[in-house]
Amino acid sequence: MARVLTGIQSSGRPHLGNILGAIVPAIELIKQNKEESFIFIADLHSLTSSKNGELRKENTLAVAAAWLAFGLDIDKTVFYRQSRRPEVAELTWYLSCFTPFPMLANAHSFKDKSERLADVNAGLFTYPVLMASDILLYSADLVPVGKDQMQHLEMTRDIASTFNRIMEEEILTIPEARIDEVVKTIPGTDGQKMSKSYNNYIDIFLPEKQLKKNVNSIITDSTPLEEPKDPDTCNVYKLYSLIATEEQTQEMRGKYQGGNYGYGHAKKEFMELILDKYSKERELFNYYMEHPEEVEKKLSAGEEKAKSVGEPILEKIRTKLGFR
Ligand code: TYM
Repeated sequence: MARVLTGIQSSGRPHLGNILGAIVPAIELIKQNKEESFIFIADLHSLTSSKNGELRKENTLAVAAAWLAFGLDIDKTVFYRQSRRPEVAELTWYLSCFTPFPMLANAHSFKDKSERLADVNAGLFTYPVLMASDILLYSADLVPVGKDQMQHLEMTRDIASTFNRIMEEEILTIPEARIDEVVKTIPGTDGQKMSKSYNNYIDIFLPEKQLKKNVNSIITDSTPLEEPKDPDTCNVYKLYSLIATEEQTQEMRGKYQGGNYGYGHAKKEFMELILDKYSKERELFNYYMEHPEEVEKKLSAGEEKAKSVGEPILEKIRTKLGFR
């Protein structure tokens, strides 16, 4: 097939949006794929928002543990930390010099925060170029992501085409985004897009007691217990239906419409479904969190491999640019 590549930032613990929007679809794609895939933890990107080194280390481990817990086949995958491959920083500089200022000024990642420019660091501004480098360094063909990353993928394509045109040679592979229609935007506890930065996420790996608190934080309206409720406008139902079977979803729908079924009941069912459906993943996640040395071994092996693929591509770019 094609070379698949994707990454998740380690700016927090992986949440249900990351899992349904990226981890599960990518693992499916890798299963069908004959070619080796590239999965990495975007720890350099996390520096644009988080400056706490200890926390980054912990979150990097958590993101790695989540991939492994969901069954990432590391025999078919180059699994690595972005920061351990310095080639990507070098390529980011080269590509920055091919990226027009207005393109970056138009990026949502920057625009969302541009009201207070004093809070925007240069890293956040050039964030899409680092992302383009992640993808182009390994000549990826297919990038499975959630809908929020679409614009970044378009920029990557633009940057690669501009580079190839100016260099008069097809050096960089133009990648394609793969966005799963069903899970393109997972809503958070408040109905907005689930995101670490909105603090509205569901963390399915939390210990039971904390998970309960997390699920209880889902915002609902004040329709009384006895009255029928509209499932389609309810955040609990929306989240439940994303992980439930068709039958379970229809059953909950009926309960909403029948009355005498409160949001507390729905939250309890959602919580139970998480515990049931993800029991193996929760166990494996805890295992890897408690055995960082095992995760380290897998990542180090991936980092060596990533070098052997990225370095020759970068060397070609260096030569073309006259640095060799
Ligand atoms: P990040 O870390 O914000 O999210 C990682 C992946 O999870 C998806 N995702 C969602 N999907 C559906 N609904 C949601 N609410 C939701 N929230 C997150 C994201 O779309 C993404 O696929 N810049 C990227 C990380 C990155 C990257 C890359 C991705 C760096 N370099 C190269 C692909 C290729 C980011 O911040 O994703």
